[in-house]
Amino acid sequence: MVKISPSILSADFANLARDIEKIASADYVHVDVMDGLFVPNITIGIPVVKAIRPTTALPLDVHLMIDRPVRYVEKFCDAGADIITCHVESDTEENTREALAKIHAKGKKAGVVVKPKTPANAVLPFLDDCDIVLVMTVEPGFGGQSFMADMMPKVAQIREWIDGRGLCCELEVDGGVGPATRDVCVEAGANVLVAGSAVYGAEDIPARIALLRG
Ligand code: DX5
Ligand code: ZN
Repeated sequence: MVKISPSILSADFANLARDIEKIASADYVHVDVMDGLFVPNITIGIPVVKAIRPTTALPLDVHLMIDRPVRYVEKFCDAGADIITCHVESDTEENTREALAKIHAKGKKAGVVVKPKTPANAVLPFLDDCDIVLVMTVEPGFGGQSFMADMMPKVAQIREWIDGRGLCCELEVDGGVGPATRDVCVEAGANVLVAGSAVYGAEDIPARIALLRG
Protein backbone atom coordinates (compact mmCIF):
# COMPACT_ATOMS: atom_id res chain seq x y z
CA MET A 1 0.00 0.00 0.00
CA VAL A 2 1.20 3.50 -0.87
CA LYS A 3 1.35 5.95 2.03
CA ILE A 4 0.96 9.70 1.74
CA SER A 5 2.96 12.11 3.88
CA PRO A 6 1.81 15.67 3.15
CA SER A 7 4.44 18.31 3.85
CA ILE A 8 3.23 21.07 6.13
CA LEU A 9 5.87 23.33 4.57
CA SER A 10 3.05 24.20 2.17
CA ALA A 11 0.51 24.74 4.98
CA ASP A 12 -0.46 28.11 6.43
CA PHE A 13 1.96 28.53 9.36
CA ALA A 14 -0.47 30.92 11.05
CA ASN A 15 -3.06 28.11 11.06
CA LEU A 16 -1.03 24.94 11.44
CA ALA A 17 -3.51 23.01 13.60
CA ARG A 18 -6.32 23.75 11.14
CA ASP A 19 -4.18 22.75 8.17
CA ILE A 20 -3.02 19.53 9.84
CA GLU A 21 -6.67 18.65 10.44
CA LYS A 22 -7.22 19.01 6.68
CA ILE A 23 -4.83 16.09 6.03
CA ALA A 24 -6.39 13.72 8.58
CA SER A 25 -6.90 11.09 5.87
CA ALA A 26 -3.16 10.93 5.14
CA ASP A 27 -0.75 8.39 6.65
CA TYR A 28 1.95 10.67 8.07
CA VAL A 29 2.55 14.37 8.63
CA HIS A 30 5.81 15.39 6.96
CA VAL A 31 7.68 18.06 8.93
CA ASP A 32 10.55 19.81 7.14
CA VAL A 33 13.15 21.06 9.60
CA MET A 34 15.75 23.43 8.10
CA ASP A 35 18.55 25.25 9.88
CA GLY A 36 19.81 27.77 7.33
CA LEU A 37 23.17 25.94 7.27
CA PHE A 38 22.62 22.54 5.70
CA VAL A 39 20.08 24.18 3.39
CA PRO A 40 19.56 27.86 2.53
CA ASN A 41 16.26 28.18 4.38
CA ILE A 42 15.01 28.16 7.99
CA THR A 43 11.66 26.61 8.85
CA ILE A 44 10.34 24.57 11.76
CA GLY A 45 12.12 23.63 14.99
CA ILE A 46 11.62 21.60 18.17
CA PRO A 47 9.00 23.89 19.83
CA VAL A 48 6.78 23.71 16.74
CA VAL A 49 7.01 19.90 16.62
CA LYS A 50 5.97 19.88 20.28
CA ALA A 51 3.09 22.27 19.63
CA ILE A 52 1.63 20.29 16.73
CA ARG A 53 2.06 16.87 18.40
CA PRO A 54 -1.29 16.98 20.27
CA THR A 55 -3.18 18.26 17.23
CA THR A 56 -3.05 14.98 15.29
CA ALA A 57 -3.08 11.22 15.81
CA LEU A 58 -0.94 10.74 12.69
CA PRO A 59 2.74 9.87 13.03
CA LEU A 60 5.04 12.88 12.63
CA ASP A 61 7.55 12.17 9.85
CA VAL A 62 10.35 14.60 10.66
CA HIS A 63 12.83 15.33 7.87
CA LEU A 64 15.93 16.92 9.37
CA MET A 65 17.75 19.20 6.95
CA ILE A 66 20.19 20.38 9.59
CA ASP A 67 23.94 20.25 10.13
CA ARG A 68 25.07 17.37 12.41
CA PRO A 69 21.56 16.19 13.42
CA VAL A 70 22.99 13.79 16.02
CA ARG A 71 23.06 16.84 18.34
CA TYR A 72 19.28 17.20 18.23
CA VAL A 73 17.60 13.88 17.40
CA GLU A 74 16.74 13.02 21.01
CA LYS A 75 15.10 16.42 21.49
CA PHE A 76 12.98 15.86 18.39
CA CYS A 77 11.97 12.45 19.74
CA ASP A 78 10.99 13.98 23.08
CA ALA A 79 9.02 16.69 21.25
CA GLY A 80 6.88 13.99 19.64
CA ALA A 81 8.51 12.92 16.38
CA ASP A 82 7.64 9.32 15.40
CA ILE A 83 9.92 8.97 12.39
CA ILE A 84 13.15 10.92 11.99
CA THR A 85 15.28 11.01 8.85
CA CYS A 86 18.81 12.42 8.73
CA HIS A 87 20.76 13.39 5.61
CA VAL A 88 23.85 11.28 4.99
CA GLU A 89 25.54 14.47 3.76
CA SER A 90 25.01 16.29 7.06
CA ASP A 91 27.61 14.43 9.15
CA THR A 92 30.22 11.66 9.25
CA GLU A 93 29.20 8.02 8.83
CA GLU A 94 29.98 7.38 12.49
CA ASN A 95 27.80 10.25 13.70
CA THR A 96 24.93 9.31 11.38
CA ARG A 97 25.11 5.81 12.81
CA GLU A 98 24.97 7.29 16.30
CA ALA A 99 21.99 9.46 15.35
CA LEU A 100 20.06 6.39 14.13
CA ALA A 101 20.93 4.53 17.35
CA LYS A 102 19.77 7.45 19.50
CA ILE A 103 16.44 7.61 17.67
CA HIS A 104 15.95 3.85 18.06
CA ALA A 105 16.85 4.05 21.75
CA LYS A 106 13.91 6.44 22.12
CA GLY A 107 11.64 3.81 20.54
CA LYS A 108 11.14 5.82 17.34
CA LYS A 109 11.69 5.02 13.66
CA ALA A 110 14.87 6.20 12.00
CA GLY A 111 16.14 6.61 8.48
CA VAL A 112 18.57 8.31 6.15
CA VAL A 113 18.03 10.79 3.31
CA VAL A 114 20.03 11.34 0.13
CA LYS A 115 20.17 14.56 -1.86
CA PRO A 116 19.87 14.38 -5.68
CA LYS A 117 23.63 14.44 -6.30
CA THR A 118 24.34 11.75 -3.70
CA PRO A 119 24.64 8.24 -5.19
CA ALA A 120 22.40 5.39 -4.13
CA ASN A 121 25.25 3.47 -2.51
CA ALA A 122 25.61 6.19 0.14
CA VAL A 123 22.70 4.53 1.97
CA LEU A 124 24.34 1.10 2.05
CA PRO A 125 26.30 1.49 5.30
CA PHE A 126 23.04 2.30 7.09
CA LEU A 127 20.45 0.23 5.26
CA ASP A 128 20.21 -2.62 7.77
CA ASP A 129 19.51 -0.08 10.55
CA CYS A 130 16.91 1.97 8.67
CA ASP A 131 13.13 1.83 9.05
CA ILE A 132 12.88 4.23 6.13
CA VAL A 133 15.07 5.64 3.36
CA LEU A 134 14.18 8.98 1.77
CA VAL A 135 15.29 9.85 -1.76
CA MET A 136 15.08 13.57 -2.55
CA THR A 137 13.53 14.31 -5.93
CA VAL A 138 14.40 18.03 -5.67
CA GLU A 139 17.31 19.87 -4.03
CA PRO A 140 16.24 20.21 -0.39
CA GLY A 141 15.35 23.67 0.87
CA PHE A 142 12.10 24.74 -0.70
CA GLY A 143 8.66 23.46 -1.63
CA GLY A 144 7.13 23.85 -5.05
CA GLN A 145 10.15 22.78 -7.15
CA SER A 146 10.07 20.58 -10.27
CA PHE A 147 10.28 16.81 -9.87
CA MET A 148 13.59 15.23 -10.95
CA ALA A 149 12.58 12.12 -12.89
CA ASP A 150 16.25 11.15 -13.21
CA MET A 151 16.17 10.10 -9.55
CA MET A 152 13.99 7.08 -10.40
CA PRO A 153 16.90 4.70 -11.12
CA LYS A 154 18.22 5.54 -7.63
CA VAL A 155 14.83 4.69 -6.11
CA ALA A 156 14.72 1.43 -8.08
CA GLN A 157 18.25 0.50 -7.00
CA ILE A 158 17.50 1.10 -3.32
CA ARG A 159 14.24 -0.86 -3.61
CA GLU A 160 16.24 -3.76 -5.05
CA TRP A 161 18.62 -3.70 -2.08
CA ILE A 162 15.76 -3.47 0.45
CA ASP A 163 13.90 -6.40 -1.09
CA GLY A 164 17.09 -8.36 -1.76
CA ARG A 165 18.05 -8.17 1.90
CA GLY A 166 14.48 -8.89 3.00
CA LEU A 167 14.37 -5.67 5.00
CA CYS A 168 11.26 -4.13 6.45
CA CYS A 169 12.29 -0.64 5.33
CA GLU A 170 10.02 1.96 3.78
CA LEU A 171 11.15 3.91 0.72
CA GLU A 172 10.06 7.53 0.55
CA VAL A 173 10.35 10.20 -2.15
CA ASP A 174 10.16 13.94 -1.52
CA GLY A 175 9.96 16.89 -3.87
CA GLY A 176 7.71 17.74 -6.80
CA VAL A 177 5.51 14.71 -6.21
CA GLY A 178 1.96 15.15 -7.49
CA PRO A 179 -0.71 13.46 -9.62
CA ALA A 180 1.52 13.62 -12.72
CA THR A 181 4.62 12.16 -11.05
CA ARG A 182 3.33 9.70 -8.43
CA ASP A 183 3.10 6.77 -10.86
CA VAL A 184 6.79 6.74 -11.80
CA CYS A 185 7.71 6.94 -8.12
CA VAL A 186 5.54 3.95 -7.24
CA GLU A 187 6.73 2.00 -10.30
CA ALA A 188 10.33 2.62 -9.23
CA GLY A 189 9.51 1.16 -5.81
CA ALA A 190 8.64 4.06 -3.52
CA ASN A 191 5.90 3.31 -0.97
CA VAL A 192 5.76 6.65 0.87
CA LEU A 193 5.08 9.81 -1.12
CA VAL A 194 5.73 13.25 0.36
CA ALA A 195 3.69 16.00 -1.24
CA GLY A 196 3.51 19.63 -0.17
CA SER A 197 2.14 21.90 -2.85
CA ALA A 198 0.25 19.06 -4.58
CA VAL A 199 -1.76 18.45 -1.40
CA TYR A 200 -2.17 21.94 0.04
CA GLY A 201 -2.70 23.50 -3.39
CA ALA A 202 -5.64 21.18 -4.09
CA GLU A 203 -9.24 22.36 -4.05
CA ASP A 204 -10.32 19.10 -2.36
CA ILE A 205 -7.48 17.91 -0.10
CA PRO A 206 -8.93 14.48 0.92
CA ALA A 207 -9.63 13.72 -2.77
CA ARG A 208 -6.06 14.70 -3.68
CA ILE A 209 -4.64 12.45 -0.96
CA ALA A 210 -6.79 9.56 -2.24
CA LEU A 211 -5.66 10.22 -5.83
CA LEU A 212 -2.00 10.23 -4.82
CA ARG A 213 -2.42 7.04 -2.84
CA GLY A 214 -3.85 5.34 -5.96
C1 DX5 B 1 12.02 20.26 0.36
C2 DX5 B 1 11.19 19.51 1.37
C3 DX5 B 1 9.94 18.94 0.83
C4 DX5 B 1 8.96 19.96 0.30
C5 DX5 B 1 8.14 19.27 -0.74
O1 DX5 B 1 13.26 20.53 0.93
O2 DX5 B 1 11.93 18.44 1.92
O3 DX5 B 1 9.31 18.12 1.80
O4 DX5 B 1 8.10 20.48 1.27
O5 DX5 B 1 7.32 20.21 -1.33
P1 DX5 B 1 6.65 19.95 -2.76
O6 DX5 B 1 5.83 18.73 -2.64
O7 DX5 B 1 5.87 21.20 -2.98
O8 DX5 B 1 7.80 19.78 -3.74
ZN1 ZN C 1 10.88 16.95 3.22
